[in-house]
Amino acid sequence: MKKIAMLTSGGDAPGMNAAIRAVLRRGMSLGMEVYGIDRGYEGLLDGDIRQLEWKNGGDILQRGGTILRTARSSRFMEDKWIDHAADVLRTFGIEGLVVIGGDGSFRGGVELAKRGILVMGVPATIDNDLGYTDFTIGFDTAVNNVLDLIGKIRDTSSSHERATIIEVMGRHCGDIALFAGLTGGADVILVPEVKMELNDICVKVLRGQNSGKGHSIIVKAEGFELPLEKLRSAVEEMTGRETRTVIPGYIQRGGSPSSYDRMMASLMGAKAAELLFNDEDSRAVGIIGPEVVAPPLAEALKQKRPFRKDMYELSQIIS
Ligand code: F6P
Repeated sequence: MKKIAMLTSGGDAPGMNAAIRAVLRRGMSLGMEVYGIDRGYEGLLDGDIRQLEWKNGGDILQRGGTILRTARSSRFMEDKWIDHAADVLRTFGIEGLVVIGGDGSFRGGVELAKRGILVMGVPATIDNDLGYTDFTIGFDTAVNNVLDLIGKIRDTSSSHERATIIEVMGRHCGDIALFAGLTGGADVILVPEVKMELNDICVKVLRGQNSGKGHSIIVKAEGFELPLEKLRSAVEEMTGRETRTVIPGYIQRGGSPSSYDRMMASLMGAKAAELLFNDEDSRAVGIIGPEVVAPPLAEALKQKRPFRKDMYELSQIIS
């Protein structure tokens, strides 16, 4: 019987548990033994590995976070530790590994693949910053979390006739700001992919004010070049509108996964188990339109995330 293992790594994302459930149950349905590794690559290095049973997939589909827990491992950056991790897997007789995480986690997977371990990546990060897949697990829930917040902030912002800047997650990829900003009707969306001068930001706020808007909502990705406080004071000074800031932080990463995240996690988790069963080369599972895709892992990582310029431009027109 084949033995496979899985781990969750990097920042957690709603829907990771749905992916764990799908890997476990699809893997078992194919007759494989499925193991769970605790705390990502850290747990792998420490040999924190246990066989999972069908019931371990019960009552987790709707839960945010990850039952396997997660970590960012600095040890795993070093060759000697990666060698050790491959040895640990071999000692347990594990032939294949599913890595549920983002690009850093996938890079770790590429290193293990170089050492003879079969690795399937399942993309799970709220940042949506992987180029080979339309969406990553957790992104949709995070956008909906921010959307909910924008609605609440809009209430109080309009009562007080304020401008409010909401700084959302996204160090290199502005998708959370873009999708939540467009669908939440933000006046200004600031992302790392597009440069915008302070003056232009204030002109946009003023344009809204002059057209009769009683308040302004600015959604800024954390990776946008200007620091939050500098932006706040400039907007307040240049527009004359009292300006507040909100950082939702980890609230974005928590909560029950949306239907779309659960669906993607189920499809992609199951696919990863099937690929391991069929002894495919190491691959990254993704979704393009309605299709589940699985390009080679190392190739997938090279693909740059395309910026949704069309959505950005539309937001500029209709906000
Ligand atoms: O999961 C990705 C991410 O949410 C980034 O957008 C964010 O900057 C980072 O993780 C922060 O996470 P942590 O504090 O857990 O390292």
